[in-house]
Amino acid sequence: MTQTHDMIVRRQFGEQAAAYVESSVHAGGEDLDWIEQVAARARPAHALDLGTGGGHVAYRLARQAGRVTASDLAGEMVAAVLATAEGKGLANVAGEIAPAEALPFADAAFDLLACRFSAHHWRDFEAGLREARRVLASGAPALFVDVVAPERPSLDMHLQAVELLRDPSHVRDYRVSEWIAALGRAGFEIRDLRSLRLRMDFPSWTARMRTSELHVAAIRSLQSLASADVAGHFALEADGSFTIDTVAIEAI
Ligand SMILES: C[S@@+](CC[C@H](N)C(=O)[O-])C[C@H]1O[C@@H](n2cnc3c(N)ncnc32)[C@H](O)[C@@H]1O
Repeated sequence: MTQTHDMIVRRQFGEQAAAYVESSVHAGGEDLDWIEQVAARARPAHALDLGTGGGHVAYRLARQAGRVTASDLAGEMVAAVLATAEGKGLANVAGEIAPAEALPFADAAFDLLACRFSAHHWRDFEAGLREARRVLASGAPALFVDVVAPERPSLDMHLQAVELLRDPSHVRDYRVSEWIAALGRAGFEIRDLRSLRLRMDFPSWTARMRTSELHVAAIRSLQSLASADVAGHFALEADGSFTIDTVAIEAI
């Protein structure tokens, strides 16, 4: 059967909601601390966690905001986040099942928006950024965190290839230069940009997405053929674990 991209995303993530709630890569990190610090400064009345996944941003925002809406394309993710929020005693978290590219919210409905490790899955990155801009009040902070591709094409290509083999819902890890340009086109002004690095543990990275043995073997093959440049940049390890670049951007 022919599937739309959004159906592939829902299948990939919907079946793995619990794994994303429990994922230690997603549950912690200095980027999450940074998001909470910005929220503590802004004290938003209503914050949006766009592409909430396991809800780790929403739980942090809930401590600093009047209320939080956790939205995601996958209904199972939203259900898992609401159940987890209730278990944590966070009564100010609501859920919404919606594509980033067509959000069911009024213009300027939120006074803080955070979006972490989601945009690289979107069918239409630019439409999602325009929607983020539309639903955010003027002058309010938007925080974007994502995996980024290196600017050099050989490194960029290696990253996209292993990402797509691991997860068919992968669209593109954008370069920092692409993020800056796209945010500008969507009407955002960048206030802060931080570059970080994140180690991906190969066994849990592939298990979380139920990557087939065939695709795991293909990734390992690509890694074994990688140039010294590629192996060095991604700090490739013997078991396939590697380190990626991420970016944390505050825009208004
Ligand atoms: C890696 S998880 C997000 C992790 C989470 N934000 C965190 O910080 O732990 C990516 C999420 O983006 C969602 N997603 C992918 N494409 C989307 C889209 N077009 N609109 C809304 N959500 C989307 C997926 O369903 C998935 O739950």
